[in-house]
Amino acid sequence: MSEFILVLDEGTTSTRAMLFDRGGALKGVAQQELTQHYPTPGWVEHYAAEIWDKTLACAREVTEKAGGAEQIACIGITNQRETVVAWDRTTGEPLARAIVWQDRRTADFCANLRKAGHEAEVQRRTGLLLDPYFSGTKMRWLLDNDAAVRGASEAGRLALGTVESWLVFKLTGGAHVSDASNASRTLLMELGGVGFDEGLCELFGVPHGALPRVVDNAGELGLARAEWLGREIPITGLAGDQQAATIGQACLSPGETKATFGTGAFVLTNKGREIPESANRLLGTVLYQLDGQRIYALEGSVFVAGSLVQWLRDSLGIVDVAAQTEALARSIPDSGGVTIVPALTGLGAPHWRAEARGVITGLSFASGKAELARAALEAMAHQTHDLAEAFAADGARWATLRIDGGMSANNWMAQDLADMLGLPVERPDFVETTALGTAMLAATGAGIHPDLPTAASAMRGDMSSFAPEMAAEVRNERLARWHAALAAA
Ligand code: G3P
Repeated sequence: MSEFILVLDEGTTSTRAMLFDRGGALKGVAQQELTQHYPTPGWVEHYAAEIWDKTLACAREVTEKAGGAEQIACIGITNQRETVVAWDRTTGEPLARAIVWQDRRTADFCANLRKAGHEAEVQRRTGLLLDPYFSGTKMRWLLDNDAAVRGASEAGRLALGTVESWLVFKLTGGAHVSDASNASRTLLMELGGVGFDEGLCELFGVPHGALPRVVDNAGELGLARAEWLGREIPITGLAGDQQAATIGQACLSPGETKATFGTGAFVLTNKGREIPESANRLLGTVLYQLDGQRIYALEGSVFVAGSLVQWLRDSLGIVDVAAQTEALARSIPDSGGVTIVPALTGLGAPHWRAEARGVITGLSFASGKAELARAALEAMAHQTHDLAEAFAADGARWATLRIDGGMSANNWMAQDLADMLGLPVERPDFVETTALGTAMLAATGAGIHPDLPTAASAMRGDMSSFAPEMAAEVRNERLARWHAALAAA
């Protein structure tokens, strides 16, 4: 009997292949960094060919280490969401660089649609706002600005999709599908609809015929060709990375909430079968679709989290490795009045200010590496606090917050979150819940476990908890400073 579930976790900065057993234990990992292109401020691009090549190389590496493809029962794929790939469906080759979710190049196009009065209707139908973050305006940009993409469209050969769609096309040798969680990030699908919507495609100028077929998040979704890993292997789980993490945290009942601190920070509250509506600039999104039935989530998307620490490391040289921020933060009693607003790529929820840029306030000659590192970590709790208020105002007050993602391993930050939110914070010992949730979906889709709750109870590990301890006046002083700095961003 095949032992393992192969998860392909294609993130913003790296691509990974991970093997899980049926009990959720991690049995192998291969990882490769992705090249980031910043051709001009506000633009972020990836090579789609590199995404595929590195994903395949990682998958091959873990499969060989596991003893070959006979050991792999099924494949699950999870991905950085909203990133757009355009390829030629006859050759299977990319037509342009992928435009990454962080890219702001369509800010003016979004502003014009907003001025023309489209935002309320777009939000009501898709759960999303008119912001360059989402895929639809990026697809339109490629059609308007890239001759190869336009030519393929005119010749009827254009395929557009998000990253899971691109990987499924390559793995299967031509299936063009997107799962409902990823499709719900495009602006082109109604939350309560079935596939991509002709009217929305017309509004955004995206040809409906170039888009994939929208499918469930688990089930028989495709067959990876034998030439890749040594035998045909079914693809049985697909999900955007934030939805996968929500499942990996077993937020399977309405009200349960997780926050993932990866490149960005993304908070999702399960809303069950109710289509979420926000009066506070949060997003409605598909959490997952099984047998055509959707479960929804309310989402707060913060664009900069771990990428701020990366910037401290790579651009400022304040730390050699991200983990050093914890010792630096602990080495001083407070940030000495230094506050960072990490709007390095505009501000997402709940502010949605594409034009905002980062600020550091409160600098003095006493400010050094420790103050900056501490202010960077404090910014995570500040941003999450603003989301907590927006969720509460939308009727989705959090009772506890389950955190995960690479940055959540920082104990100082986990405690600071509990303190600033005034809430218990729980963290699984295994923080790679995006991959784990994808393994749960794939295991459910392959019939290894009968449903997601059974998969979650079989595959989830132990948790640690952090209880709030901070005095109210310290919290209030921090928040006052944060909101003043935010106004300057
Ligand atoms: O919506 C963007 C998100 O999917 C990116 O996730 O893990 O790269 O922060 P991550």
